[in-house]
Amino acid sequence: MELPPRPKLFDFHGVSMTNYFTDNWDNVQNFQARPDDILIATYPKAGTTWVSYILDLLYFVQTLLIPLYPPGVEVLDNLTTSPRLIKTHLPVQLLPKSFWEQNCRIVYVARNAKDNAVSYFHFDRMNQAEPEPGDWNNYLQRFMDGKMVFGSWYDHVTGWWEKKQTHSKILYLFYEDMVEDTGRELDRLCSFLGLSPSAEEKEMVKGGVQFDIMKKNSMANYSTNPVMDFKISPFMRKGKVGDWKNHFTVAQSEQFDEDYKKKMENTQLRFRTTI
Ligand code: PPS
Repeated sequence: MELPPRPKLFDFHGVSMTNYFTDNWDNVQNFQARPDDILIATYPKAGTTWVSYILDLLYFVQTLLIPLYPPGVEVLDNLTTSPRLIKTHLPVQLLPKSFWEQNCRIVYVARNAKDNAVSYFHFDRMNQAEPEPGDWNNYLQRFMDGKMVFGSWYDHVTGWWEKKQTHSKILYLFYEDMVEDTGRELDRLCSFLGLSPSAEEKEMVKGGVQFDIMKKNSMANYSTNPVMDFKISPFMRKGKVGDWKNHFTVAQSEQFDEDYKKKMENTQLRFRTTI
């Protein structure tokens, strides 16, 4: 199949985007949320698929449906499940307002910047629907400059974090915590959602969402997506905390940390880059 050329980044309301996520913008902004919708919000590569699959197993005990071509809004409008599990990478200020009007529950997942950047780099290498990543050094600079699809990591994680301080229906999860103790985070998730699965059900979910199991699950590992070339890098790549150490040079790490301190000086939000 002939694939279209890679898209270009452009500024969209102050956030870097590609046309794939803006072409349908009026419909996205006018999207009608329902009160029982559950939104999974993340910066790309922070653990979206993992948390989506957990929620899917908790509510429906079935495998994930990843829509490919019909625009997400159309798929959602025709979705008859209750609740609807909806995922987005939008920064908080661009979220369709009906999610706030309907007071929907929102699960936000954040991942430390270094691992997030590495994961995004490999994703952009293998995904023809992403802008050309170039080499790692330039990519890292672009990440620091916020010139990534869905904008700046720094703005994204802090924007949602600030919102959480005044909005009780946001659960803010960390990828590192999920890797460290999936069962504990599953309990937090269930208590936020008001679910009380049996010990058996919890074991079933925990077992099904382990990295190695999900990697083999063709409904969750994106292996059916033609724009992704798994020969370059698989979607379920490593699933680790600390893989950044295999990519950052000492100089890159120092420069990144210095810049990070400045960008994050006004927030209480703290990440772990190792566990
Ligand atoms: S996307 O494209 O934005 O939806 O990607 P996203 O799902 O947010 O993030 C992909 C990274 O999450 C890792 N992943 C997992 N890690 C641990 N355990 C499980 N079960 C799991 N499922 C997905 C996936 O491997 C990507 O991280 P990297 O570091 O690239 O391996």
